[in-house]
Amino acid sequence: MKKTFLVFLIVLGLVFSTVLATTYVVGTSADFPPFEYVQNGKYVGFDLGLIKAIAKTEGFNIQIRDMAFDSLIPALKVGVIDIAIAGMTITKEREKVVDFSNPYWFADQDVIVRKNSNYTVTVLFGKHKIGVQTGTTGDLWVTKNLVKSGILKASNVKRYQSFIYALEALLNGAINAVVLDSPVAERFAQVKPVKVVAVLVTGEHYGIAVRKGNTKLLREINAGLKKVKASGEMAKLIDKYFGKK
Ligand code: ARG
Repeated sequence: MKKTFLVFLIVLGLVFSTVLATTYVVGTSADFPPFEYVQNGKYVGFDLGLIKAIAKTEGFNIQIRDMAFDSLIPALKVGVIDIAIAGMTITKEREKVVDFSNPYWFADQDVIVRKNSNYTVTVLFGKHKIGVQTGTTGDLWVTKNLVKSGILKASNVKRYQSFIYALEALLNGAINAVVLDSPVAERFAQVKPVKVVAVLVTGEHYGIAVRKGNTKLLREINAGLKKVKASGEMAKLIDKYFGKK
């Protein structure tokens, strides 16, 4: 009798702690393999595995919300989401409006073209059409270095809400190249008929973003990140999503 009651109490406690645990809404832009993408109708990827692992160590629940990359910061600001994890580069501009965790990844920008084309880095110059994802650091790089300096006409920059559309446009010939983060370009080059023809060394670091001033959540995320690294869970995720296919 006593034992059953104890078991009952433990079960009750477990139920309560999961029910009472805070649920944070995590925003992402699921067009960025291997960081975040859709597989068999599910949101998967390194970033989502990472935030799940952090949530587990810190004892909160998460709910994933997929949106356009350039909606993530506005959504954080107004409180539609609590956390943004989307291979998001820590930049001075973004740091003015959101707070970032410690860096967890690094990237440069790559230029990709169709595999069967003869383009080189010179695809960036002249009359070619260059695709980017709206509001990304690739977009900023092209705008600053090519458009503002007069190398590329503004109308030749094609902005897409999603990399899925940018890739489609590249493959069907609507555009000549796409500028995007190196780890994602490399993944696309493994699974799609595209190749990397240049690396633009931008030295970016990815961070997890929270609303400005949400120090409690930021502290939890940084503590979780540290634990996930120390426990070897991070290495497992790297192997799962970046290991040789
Ligand atoms: N790292 C780049 C940036 O922060 C691109 C991120 C795009 N992420 C995505 N999930 N589509 O601007």
